[in-house]
Amino acid sequence: MGAVLRCAEPPAHALHQTGAAPAALLCHIMACSTQSDALVFFVNGRKIIERNANPEKLLLSYLGKGLRLSGTKYGCGIGGCGACTVMISTYEPTSKKIMHYPANSCLLPICLLHNSAVTTVEGVGSTKTRVHPIQERLAKCHGSQCGFCTPGMVMSMYALLRNHPDPSMEQITAALDGNLCRCTGYRPIIDTYKSFAGETACCQLRGTGQCCLDKEDVYSSSDKGNQMHSGLCNLEEFQPVDPTQEFIFPPELMRMAQEQQKRTLVFHGERTTWISPTNLRELLELKAMYPKAPLVVGNTSVGLEMKLDGVHHPVIIHPTRIPDLHVVSNTNNGLVIGAACSLAQLRDILMKVVPELPEEKTKIFRALLQQLKTLAGEQIRSLASLGGHIVSRGSTWDLNPVLAVGNSVLSLASKDGTRQIPLNDQFLAGYGNADLKPKEIIVSVLIPYSKKDDFVSAFRQAERRKNAASVVNSGMRVLFKPNTDIIMDLNILYGGIGPTTVSARKSCQRLIGRQWNEQMLDEACKLVLGEISLSPSAPGGKVEYRRTLLVSFLFKFYLEVLYGLNKMYPAKYPDLSKKNLSALGSFHSEAPQGMQTYQDVDPAQPPQDPVGRPIMHQSGVKHATGEAVYCNDIRAVDEELFLAVVTSPRAHAKIVTIDVSEALNVPGVVDVVTAEDVPGKNGTDNEQAYAKDEVICVGQIVCAVVAESAVQAKQGVEKVKIEYEDLEPVLTIEDAIKHNSYFGEEKKIEQGNIEEGFKSADEIIEGEIHIGGQEHFYLETNSVFVVPRGEDNEMDVHVSTQDAASVQEFVALALDVQSSKIMCHTKRVGGAFGGKVTKPTIFAVVAAVAANKTGRPIRFTLERDEDMLITGGRHPFFGKYKVGFTNDGRITAADIESYINAGCTLDESELVIEYVVLKTDNAYKLPNLRVRGRACKTNLPSNTAFRGFGFPQAGLFTESWIVTVATRTGLPPEKIREINMYKGVNLTPFKEELDATNLVKCWKECMEKSEYYSRKTAVEEFNKQNYWKKKGIAIIPMKFSVGFNATRYHQAAALVHIYTDGSVLVTHGGIEMGQGIHTKMLQVASRELKVPLSYVHFCETSTITVPNAIVTAGSIGSDVNGKAVQNACQILRKRLEPIINKNPEGKWEDWITEAYDQSVSLSATGYFRGYMANMNWDTGEGQAFPYFVFGVACSEVEIDCLTGDHKNIRTDIVMDACFSINPAVDIGQIEGAFVQGVGLYTMEEIKFSPEGEQYTLGPDTYKIPAVCDIPEQFRVYLLPNSRNPIAIYSSKGMGEAGLFLGCSVFFAIWDAVAAVRKERGLTGTFILNSPLTVERIRMACADNFTDMIPKDKPGTYKPWAIDIA
Ligand SMILES: Cc1cc2nc3c(=O)[nH]c(=O)nc-3n(C[C@H](O)[C@H](O)[C@H](O)COP(=O)(O)OP(=O)(O)OC[C@H]3O[C@@H](n4cnc5c(N)ncnc54)[C@H](O)[C@@H]3O)c2cc1C
Ligand code: FES
Ligand code: FES
Repeated sequence: MGAVLRCAEPPAHALHQTGAAPAALLCHIMACSTQSDALVFFVNGRKIIERNANPEKLLLSYLGKGLRLSGTKYGCGIGGCGACTVMISTYEPTSKKIMHYPANSCLLPICLLHNSAVTTVEGVGSTKTRVHPIQERLAKCHGSQCGFCTPGMVMSMYALLRNHPDPSMEQITAALDGNLCRCTGYRPIIDTYKSFAGETACCQLRGTGQCCLDKEDVYSSSDKGNQMHSGLCNLEEFQPVDPTQEFIFPPELMRMAQEQQKRTLVFHGERTTWISPTNLRELLELKAMYPKAPLVVGNTSVGLEMKLDGVHHPVIIHPTRIPDLHVVSNTNNGLVIGAACSLAQLRDILMKVVPELPEEKTKIFRALLQQLKTLAGEQIRSLASLGGHIVSRGSTWDLNPVLAVGNSVLSLASKDGTRQIPLNDQFLAGYGNADLKPKEIIVSVLIPYSKKDDFVSAFRQAERRKNAASVVNSGMRVLFKPNTDIIMDLNILYGGIGPTTVSARKSCQRLIGRQWNEQMLDEACKLVLGEISLSPSAPGGKVEYRRTLLVSFLFKFYLEVLYGLNKMYPAKYPDLSKKNLSALGSFHSEAPQGMQTYQDVDPAQPPQDPVGRPIMHQSGVKHATGEAVYCNDIRAVDEELFLAVVTSPRAHAKIVTIDVSEALNVPGVVDVVTAEDVPGKNGTDNEQAYAKDEVICVGQIVCAVVAESAVQAKQGVEKVKIEYEDLEPVLTIEDAIKHNSYFGEEKKIEQGNIEEGFKSADEIIEGEIHIGGQEHFYLETNSVFVVPRGEDNEMDVHVSTQDAASVQEFVALALDVQSSKIMCHTKRVGGAFGGKVTKPTIFAVVAAVAANKTGRPIRFTLERDEDMLITGGRHPFFGKYKVGFTNDGRITAADIESYINAGCTLDESELVIEYVVLKTDNAYKLPNLRVRGRACKTNLPSNTAFRGFGFPQAGLFTESWIVTVATRTGLPPEKIREINMYKGVNLTPFKEELDATNLVKCWKECMEKSEYYSRKTAVEEFNKQNYWKKKGIAIIPMKFSVGFNATRYHQAAALVHIYTDGSVLVTHGGIEMGQGIHTKMLQVASRELKVPLSYVHFCETSTITVPNAIVTAGSIGSDVNGKAVQNACQILRKRLEPIINKNPEGKWEDWITEAYDQSVSLSATGYFRGYMANMNWDTGEGQAFPYFVFGVACSEVEIDCLTGDHKNIRTDIVMDACFSINPAVDIGQIEGAFVQGVGLYTMEEIKFSPEGEQYTLGPDTYKIPAVCDIPEQFRVYLLPNSRNPIAIYSSKGMGEAGLFLGCSVFFAIWDAVAAVRKERGLTGTFILNSPLTVERIRMACADNFTDMIPKDKPGTYKPWAIDIA
């Protein structure tokens, strides 16, 4: 063994578990030192030497807790969100090349970093040294809102620029594939990064000749007034990129890489030993010794098993330094690729060789490239290895079916020798004799060249086009007898159908010798459906869709081959018909182009007055440098403990016993806290913090374990034993209606005479719609840090909340102390969207009770899966309608019933159903209307506030039956909308006055700006030409009511101090969660005090400075706090006036000094009593909302009828934002909300088991929109010359309204589906439920393939998931 195992002595238990080692080697190991090698790597140029590196330690937590670099964020912990992105640089001694790549630090064991240089966001730039152009531009282009995703966005771009200083737009968008943002809608991020693009730095909007970044004025056709302005940032302000300023790769690492090539490294942890050999011989010895030890290369598969399934490996072998595993060679048969090559390297190699080789040889390579373009994000592609991909062989892994049909060959090696095995269906199914032996490893993979008569295709369809595992994928290959279309060999594999990739082997055999024609296709479909079966209860659900994809892909393959035959032998094989040509190809989005237009400020406005200007987010630069501090970034304090919760696995059960004895024995565990430990009130008015006696949903907190570390707290959680006695649960709305299980009374409004209305109708329709819920998916999970002050029962509560006052109130009640003893602080929140209105109070109570019991500070940050499990989301909705209308499209009566699934506690559900009822009319004057609503009480996690608060469901419901009315009358939907739209001054159904003038203006403006009618004609033309792809277009109006239906919810206070140096500290009750409230408040203070913005500072929202603040929600945060700040500043200015008048030429500082000398108070509170609002539910009348926001959106999409995929082509939004205090912030809210709405209506799907357990608990199973989902052209236009006299500076609240407009995409898809159905002869009305996922779109495009698949009778099987709406 000699040099092999320099000092490896795995712990005794490790040897025991991994099998007996050969005696000689074992002796050698025992003789070695037990010391670990020193792990050496650099972070941001600083050398790190870890003498006791723990192989289980991941870089993300090492950076945060170990190095106190908190800029790298935790968003999911499973590689799905990109918030934790860092750049890794390594030196390759043989090629003498330095490689840079982006990586998810949440999946990177630190031991993998030996000899690497890590760059984090702090290393890219900082306000203390130099802000990097990427950071600067992202901030200046308004590419950050809450800022939680921003460091990851910076790092992905930084890694790209280090490798490609002149990147193409395709490279830029691909670099962001693995980064999610929940706030911005991505458009400003893409615009920022466009400025680095090599090809064209300008975002020429096709056809218009305008650039979204230039400052040219664009005039509105219909309005006079101040000039219109296009673009929100100025390219000229940007610092140039200066590569000489970047970190250089540490020369010491180059030296080490050369010297240490020959030395095996061993790192011992408490439970795991990490061994990194340097040559193949050593590796094979090790594998023989530890046959069960995984070979960890990227850790993207092993890491997930360890995290999600609790798998533990006593020994891990890290083979990355072995040159044989990195080989790349061109042989006579094909390409040989080393097993440790990353998928990104594989892609780059293939991209290089494909153009160099004859086309006929590269068919397999091109099929692989197609999969590699959409597989995961760039971070995962850079980490994941080809060998790891092949061996971990997840059922949905995309390369394996293609490698298998391509007859790839695996070169294996073990101590006993080498051999080659085919990578085929049997290998992928893990059949014993076709698989690796335990001691074998893959050295390399031969990917063969294709032959002239070969045809190879790859298919995948996922819930999101990029960075989402396939629902079904496939590799297909046919080899014809030379110069014929007679099948000589056929190979078809599918992923996503069973637990492993499956082959249609028998079907393929049966088809050999057949000609490639329609009869063959027909038989092939039947054979495949017969051979590959999918149980109706199959995990993952979507059973009929998956069955349909089997044959849809087959059909696509059939056509692709026909197309190929025609290209090869044009004389012999006819052109593909026009109809079938449209089935070819999958969607590929262009880099999005944006345009933002708003009215400029009055030219007479002083330049120093920032109101009305697109001022950068007050924390934008700090977001981009990672310096912005979020709750969990607060530095550790002495004696702090970590808290983890035990949650209920039952939907409804009695708690019989709780046994914590084993948990208390776990090392590091300090205590277990239960309901018994709450000295006062256990939770809020309607939700317990700790369950007592009974649990009412899966995920309810039962008790909490506090320990010295987060890991120990989790270990303690595993040991708590709770015995339950099951009770009958109610889960769905249908169940709740059956059991009469509701919260509160029915809410009802009625206007006109409904019976008369129906009598005057020409036709009456009735129907139903189901709308799914939505996860908030804020990037920052819930977090609270509680620090007892040690005297008078005082306690500081740092909490990520939208409602600090409620946290204070309920923590005080729980601890049975006065509110004055509890100080709540919120510096900023990493996204909230309504999800942090009520739930953080529960988390704060849980933590505060633990702090009270132990007397020590408690840190409680939820993991992503816990957050999604516990917190609930947007209410799933079920609506029934009966609508009467005349033949010319006038709606005469509507009788509406709405139900929401509230979950297990009241939370905000009563208010949500009130809003559903009040907002059902949307933009329409419905003369005779009855709306009734109920909140259903079920045993699901309690649903809560979510941006739009009931309106997104109510509005979609209304627009759905409007479409049905259109279908029945034969009129276009926009006509029905126009005919019934509110016009001029009106009354709402609850008798509130409403001036709809601007609604009509928005409608006309949007019609014009979107060129609706000409594009509609173009869509119709496209649809005539294309049978398998269809386009759709829709224009949707909106009336959104802002605020709350009671005056007291609109009150606000502020506290403004002027210090003697003239600087100003503004505090108010609003909370910053990305919506730019503090930026706007500083603008207000700057205008009112007439001081430059740089004089004004905001520190934190705190219950110490502003008491009893209302929750920041309902789109009115800036409105009401703005009034309070304005009031405080005006009081101060008034006090200063005599001094200013005496010395009008003086400077601000002089006046302040004088005021101080004259004993004038330089501190003032400001107050706003609130907008008048009230609603009387007894009479069904009231002034329910302070004012309305109007908007209209037009969207165009294209769908693939065979897969259900869709692409967002263009969206135009016209919004009545009135005088925007900050157009960059307001347009950011509109764009971000719109994209969140696109997610709600087209892709985000929460799945529950029949037992009420939520399956969708992370970015792997729940898909929010990514860069690939935003419209290719995305234009926002703020209606000019519009005023809102009741709000500050005549502005309007923009936080929520844009979300509903996302449904324009839903209805554009509906339009496309309608075109499909009409062409297929499926006349008549149909209803599409929300979200319109790939599955729903495909299944609505009924055709002979959907007819062909086996259907299971509901009730005859147990489905994997249930519909809760
Ligand atoms: C967020 C995320 C998104 C993803 N999205 C996709 C997707 O869209 N499509 C897709 O196809 N895949 C996807 N994947 C899966 C990804 O392709 C695999 O996890 C990856 O290829 C595994 O490679 P690795 O190097 O990280 O393996 P590791 O986790 O390091 O190892 C995996 C297994 O392979 C074995 N192994 C590794 N190398 C060898 C060798 N040379 N010889 C023998 N055994 C070996 C190890 O022993 C281990 O059992 C995704 C993964 C993540 C985390
Ligand atoms: S935290 Fe690492 S990818 Fe989400
Ligand atoms: S700014 Fe991207 S998640 Fe908030």
